[in-house]
Amino acid sequence: MKTYSITILLCACAIALTSCNQGKTEYSEKSEVAVNEPSKEDLVKRGEYLVNIIGCDHCHTPKKMTENGPVPDMDRRLMGFPASDSLAPIHRNDLGPGKWMMMNGDLTAFVGPWGISYGGNITSDDTGIGAWTYEQFKKAMTEGKYKGMDNSRPIMPPMPWESFRMLEENDLSAIYEFLMSTTPIENVVPAYTPPPAMESILY
Ligand code: HEC
Repeated sequence: MKTYSITILLCACAIALTSCNQGKTEYSEKSEVAVNEPSKEDLVKRGEYLVNIIGCDHCHTPKKMTENGPVPDMDRRLMGFPASDSLAPIHRNDLGPGKWMMMNGDLTAFVGPWGISYGGNITSDDTGIGAWTYEQFKKAMTEGKYKGMDNSRPIMPPMPWESFRMLEENDLSAIYEFLMSTTPIENVVPAYTPPPAMESILY
């Protein structure tokens, strides 16, 4: 009987200690998160770094020619295909199975079996993604939904969203914060042209 009650007592102590400990851990974890939470400025910096190394400029920034070849024109950074530009004529014989796909010299317009796609305006302007919520951005980047809307069309090549779906949440939100901090550039990028609509454009 004595052994029995000692066992109960020990058990009770153990439970009390464990719950005490749990409480403590939870508290210190919480306070650690609070201390380590990145500031907006840190997020923007990290986002800029990610945008630089992932190379969003390749398709979203018009280029300017230098003695080292074409480089992103940072005055027009991330504005997408400039609405004031036009595409060179596209001959129907250049397209088709086994033929080339094409892009303009700026690397902001792309012609292929999917039709014609244009690097989007991803600056903080309202004609870009300035009015987008983070959830919209996430849906576009990881589910390939145009404008980040559930019912919209799929985002076309060569936007590599299948790779971006592997971005971790904190990296994705850092990229979002950086894009929201960019200089707004007003530019309504032409609408994507699906293959049937291309017929009237080809010569
Ligand atoms: C290889 C070219 C390429 C690269 C690199 C690229 N994009 Fe794109 N992106 C595109 C094209 C082309 C479109 C438009 C596709 C369409 O209209 O269906 C697009 C569309 C988008 C859209 C959707 C715009 C909208 O209005 O729905 C977002 C957001 C976006 N890109 C963000 C990024 C970010 C951020 C990066 C870098 C981390 C990046 N892209 C890198 C080519 C690219």
